[in-house]
Amino acid sequence: MAREKCVLAYSGGLDTSVAIRWIQENYDMDVIALAIDVGQERQDLEFVRTKALSIGAIESIVKDVREEYVEEYISKALKANALYENKYPLVSAMSRPIIVKHLVEEAHKHQAKYIGHGCTGKGNDQVRFEVGIACLDPDLQIVAPVREWELKTREQEMLYAMEHDIPVPTTKASPYSIDDNLWGRAIECGVLEDPWLEPPSDIYTLTADSRGNTCDEPQYVEISFEQGVPVALDGEHASFHEVIKSMNEIAGKHGFGRIDMIENRLIGVKSREIYEVPGALTLITAHKALEDLCLERDVLHYKLQIEQKWSELVYNGMWFSPLKEALDGFIETTQQLVTGDVRLRFYKGSCVPVGRRSPYSLYDYNLATYDEADSFDHKAAKGFIDLHGLPTKVWARQRRKVGKDGEV
Ligand code: ARG
Repeated sequence: MAREKCVLAYSGGLDTSVAIRWIQENYDMDVIALAIDVGQERQDLEFVRTKALSIGAIESIVKDVREEYVEEYISKALKANALYENKYPLVSAMSRPIIVKHLVEEAHKHQAKYIGHGCTGKGNDQVRFEVGIACLDPDLQIVAPVREWELKTREQEMLYAMEHDIPVPTTKASPYSIDDNLWGRAIECGVLEDPWLEPPSDIYTLTADSRGNTCDEPQYVEISFEQGVPVALDGEHASFHEVIKSMNEIAGKHGFGRIDMIENRLIGVKSREIYEVPGALTLITAHKALEDLCLERDVLHYKLQIEQKWSELVYNGMWFSPLKEALDGFIETTQQLVTGDVRLRFYKGSCVPVGRRSPYSLYDYNLATYDEADSFDHKAAKGFIDLHGLPTKVWARQRRKVGKDGEV
């Protein structure tokens, strides 16, 4: 009888390389390795593909999904101004759903009943993989070797690898755990686990140090949006993907886009996280500046709550959930007239919106101005204030009756 098959989310690193052999040995299954290109820096994916085969995968697939990632995933995050705990643009949380989608697709194509991942039992990513897979096909089974095996230290893993002819990294292992894609970079572990210590400067690759080597001149950049997504840079048409790449470069060069935070993981642990997100933070800043101009007040205020819930759901692995889908519907409706330009100024670690305009702008100069052109009815304000303040006025009177100066 043919062996069962497992499609493994493969990165080319030590964990998932060891996992190929471990799954074969411990589960008696064939492994199909799947590496997904979501815009990680410096990764030779052809090398990754052949590496999986050399370890024993019966098939090894590399898929470049960058365009789909930008169009179907990142665009939703930008429209939602998605920041978990008001700070983190969901770098890793964003890439997992698209990886999941392709894992499930390949599992179906190869009649595999199992999907494997290399996440530990302590992070968010295991949840994102497993809940995501369950949403797309609840009959698929999960194999999570890193959570199961007894290889506690990196040395034990290296030993297992050497005993099984699995290529081990020749360079000294980085003390950090890094996950990246075109929406940014996440850096954990090593000295960063002490929340009191300032992160060493060598952890950064996308952003310059704003105390030192950034430009002495400010730089202005104009980003144009159509229905909530970027379509041009400095007046030149550019795809959303190109805009992200350019903004990673420009903002990074000016030292904008570093985040150092304590974050609440879903599994209940607080962790110290460093992120480099120059492009993501720039685009969210610009997008918000345009929404300030184009969204009606109640919609804008209500959307802030939706944004927070959306970010929480996506952080917690609920990308394919019905609530997240329903919130997408709300957000999409709000974006119909979020079209226009935002001018940003970059200087020494800062990114500030300094101008915004839109054919759908709700800013009315005649209503806003204190000059002669003022068309606002000042007298109408009195009646408005009387009624607006009426309930509190009634309350205050009553309080004074019961006790002196409001004291009961
Ligand atoms: N804490 C972040 C998240 O859960 C980043 C995790 C990144 N993983 C890593 N191996 N550095 O989304």
